[in-house]
Amino acid sequence: MLKNIVLIGFMGVGKSLAAKHLAAKLNRPIISTDELIVRQEGKSIAQIFQEKSEAYFRAVEAKVVEAISNKTNVIVDCGGGIALNPANMDLLKKNGIIFYLSASVDEIYKNVKDQKHRPLLNTPDPKNQIKQLLEARQPFYKMADYVIDANGKSGEQLCVDILTLFKSASKK
Ligand code: S3P
Repeated sequence: MLKNIVLIGFMGVGKSLAAKHLAAKLNRPIISTDELIVRQEGKSIAQIFQEKSEAYFRAVEAKVVEAISNKTNVIVDCGGGIALNPANMDLLKKNGIIFYLSASVDEIYKNVKDQKHRPLLNTPDPKNQIKQLLEARQPFYKMADYVIDANGKSGEQLCVDILTLFKSASKK
């Protein structure tokens, strides 16, 4: 079985960028959980949060994870909150190796400050919101198989770091 490469971590750490590089390098498809949710619901994530609720979004997210959990040989680009639900992590671990892309509050803020599509960061003080959420989420993210330091790294560098670990893990 060719294990999936599963990317988790906070918004703006570079999961989607790394996924694109990995997909090109390994010639594998990318599955983006956010994209599947948007397609399935016919609404943007901001609309889902606003018109339904975060709880509704999390329920759809968990269903999407379940639906993709039998796939193999894919790159899974996870929404930043997926690790908060242990059932999601169990399902993603079944056929995959999970990489936590870790970055500092400053790095994350730098990457997201000009973007407006993330409802959780649409607050008067997004930097403080990042700090609070990141702190609360650390124990969940650390349930990953590997932690990758994503600070200051290009998509290409992230790809190299992930593949080095993935190749040695695949030999085990
Ligand atoms: C979220 C991260 C987003 C998206 C939603 C909630 C989170 O995905 O799933 O806005 O709770 O961290 P990205 O990490 O791809 O921005």
